[in-house]
Amino acid sequence: MNRIELNTPLGRSLLLLGGEMKDIEPLLPASGLFVITDLNVRSLYGNIFPPGMVFTVEPGEQSKTLARSEELCKRLLEAGADRSSFILGFGGGVICDLAGLTASIYMRGVRHGFVSTSLLSQVDASTGGKTAVNLGDYKNIIGTFKQPEFVLCDHRMLSTLPEEELQSGLGELIKHAVIRDRNLFFDISASMEKVYERDPVILGDLIRRAVRIKASIVRRDPLESGPRRVLNFGHTFGHVLETYYRIPHGVAVTKGMLLAAELSVWTGEMPHSEMKMLEEVIEKTGMLPDLELPDNIIGMMSHDKKAEAGSLNMILLRSVGKAVVRRLPLNEIAAFVSFYRDGKEKNK
Ligand SMILES: NC(=O)c1ccc[n+]([C@@H]2O[C@H](COP(=O)([O-])OP(=O)(O)OC[C@H]3O[C@@H](n4cnc5c(N)ncnc54)[C@H](O)[C@@H]3O)[C@@H](O)[C@H]2O)c1
Repeated sequence: MNRIELNTPLGRSLLLLGGEMKDIEPLLPASGLFVITDLNVRSLYGNIFPPGMVFTVEPGEQSKTLARSEELCKRLLEAGADRSSFILGFGGGVICDLAGLTASIYMRGVRHGFVSTSLLSQVDASTGGKTAVNLGDYKNIIGTFKQPEFVLCDHRMLSTLPEEELQSGLGELIKHAVIRDRNLFFDISASMEKVYERDPVILGDLIRRAVRIKASIVRRDPLESGPRRVLNFGHTFGHVLETYYRIPHGVAVTKGMLLAAELSVWTGEMPHSEMKMLEEVIEKTGMLPDLELPDNIIGMMSHDKKAEAGSLNMILLRSVGKAVVRRLPLNEIAAFVSFYRDGKEKNK
């Protein structure tokens, strides 16, 4: 097992990569434990939940709402949870976001930790202390920062993950490589078959390297006021596509990464050859969704959290392995979108 300590001014988080349930036993309270999970995860892993009351929500993005968090708070209150209680989020990224938010607002904040069960949450969502729910069609508008005390990633749990969800997590895994680590990018490309076979050793190595990247960025900028923004690579386009087409988060981010890479070439930030390389690796994943951009994409992007006064902080690439933050006016992004659509028309 790999232990990574993530110390930030917001608190300390212990990341247990490749660990198992017994590793969190000493980190849990003797009583007052409340598990928040979804139906799928409960039916697969309910038998190994630690002793405590279990609250179950519907699986998927539909559960990431303030109403659901409020309902959980009511149930916690009815069950006698107090400020010494502990919330264990047991599930994928949706559960981490929802349980994390609930833990940060219930009685002004109670202790919490995660057992992270999807590839996407092991690579990304469970680490870093961002919690969120959606506001209508807009992603992650309501949220807080609160570090989980621990994150357990047992990679063997990925064996039960549906293929579509594995693919979605692969998108976020590739993102970490693309923003920071060219060697990791080539290694992911070379290990694609093993990833699909859910080889726990290969997955464990790739996840550990991605989490190290995320942890080093979060340490420097826990509140995302600067360098942490690069972790949003592919997300500004991706969030619009995720909501519009109701597709898994990582699949939308993957399409968003390709768009952001094309934008990087369009603005002269990155050579075209790098873009082709990224495209080829993403093609190998089997998820190159050919999606039309929604008519109102610019209007939808303008509500993104990265929007400020008619411009957006976009994450662009200088090369595969090096991301930069650039402030672009919305009208320049709109010009790129027209250029992109024209190119698609010509290729039809
Ligand atoms: N807070 C952050 O820093 C952060 C970062 C990235 C993504 N996110 C959020 O994460 C969410 C996506 O996470 P996700 O893809 O894990 O979604 P998810 O939690 O909905 O999980 C995907 C599906 O897989 C199922 N599942 C989870 N683990 C399983 C397992 N071991 N075996 C079988 N089925 C399993 C779930 O029940 C669900 O149906 C999005 O809402 C995104 O915004 C948050």
